[in-house]
Amino acid sequence: MDLAGKNVVYLGGFGGIGQKCVQELLQRQIKSLAIFDLVENAAILAEWKNNNPNTDIFYQKVDITQKSDIETAYKETAQRVGHFDVVVNGSGLMNDRLIELTIQINLLGVINSTLTALEYMDKAKGGRGGLIVNISSVAGLQPTALMAIYSAAKSGVTTFTRAMANPIYYAHSGVGFITICPGFTDTGLLDDIDNKTTFTYETPMLAMFNKVKRQRPEDCASNLVRAIETAKNGAVLMLETGETQEVDMPDLWKPQFED
Ligand SMILES: NC(=O)c1ccc[n+]([C@@H]2O[C@H](COP(=O)([O-])OP(=O)(O)OC[C@H]3O[C@@H](n4cnc5c(N)ncnc54)[C@H](O)[C@@H]3O)[C@@H](O)[C@H]2O)c1
Repeated sequence: MDLAGKNVVYLGGFGGIGQKCVQELLQRQIKSLAIFDLVENAAILAEWKNNNPNTDIFYQKVDITQKSDIETAYKETAQRVGHFDVVVNGSGLMNDRLIELTIQINLLGVINSTLTALEYMDKAKGGRGGLIVNISSVAGLQPTALMAIYSAAKSGVTTFTRAMANPIYYAHSGVGFITICPGFTDTGLLDDIDNKTTFTYETPMLAMFNKVKRQRPEDCASNLVRAIETAKNGAVLMLETGETQEVDMPDLWKPQFED
């Protein structure tokens, strides 16, 4: 996909990875950028607007745990820009001591945002098609015991997004889906891990966690935006230590049919 002239919605655009992705997107001469986030970062928003006078950049307040916030933000954005070409679901929280919130933000929020965006993008409903990018994690590719709840939520994101990418749905809606699985990336999400693990007792996993190599958010972001440009429906992409690797997800079960 050539991003020039496109309308983009970015959820979590003021976050560590989000800010770097926005900067990459703005280099592509996109037509508009709606940032859905919990709190406005007025200083960075003003800087982006100043430096990119040809892109309509604006903020919509969204608490992703509130379905009504999501619906209002998409409605107002559609009224302002007409249609969306790309949606990035990039909000997130890693804190296994907050079980419900972990599921609400990381999984339910992504599902609600995706299904709401589809109402506007689905060609069968008068939309123009496009691409929805859901940010999962390497913890959404395999169990990450230190953060079992986060890992469960992210595995849900991976499976949900792969299901949405089904070719039958794609033929109907014209909306493609990709799953992004970053490895450890140096952002605030990884702060204060000692107080966010699934259990309170010491395990060697915490010491290991603190030794894992972290990629720079700008490297993750440039690979993420390249993945948007490639726009391969159904791709599951691991973005780890500055590289992109497409993950082959095998079918472990096949239905057996009645004769
Ligand atoms: N940093 C990593 O190592 C890493 C690794 C794998 C996946 N990820 C995923 O990448 C995405 C971005 O993470 P990050 O590292 O930039 O973290 P971050 O904490 O810097 O950013 C998280 C973003 O989510 C937003 N958010 C949190 N709660 C919200 C809510 N209730 N409603 C709306 N927005 C909310 C925050 O405001 C922020 O913009 C997340 O989905 C995260 O799970 C991060």
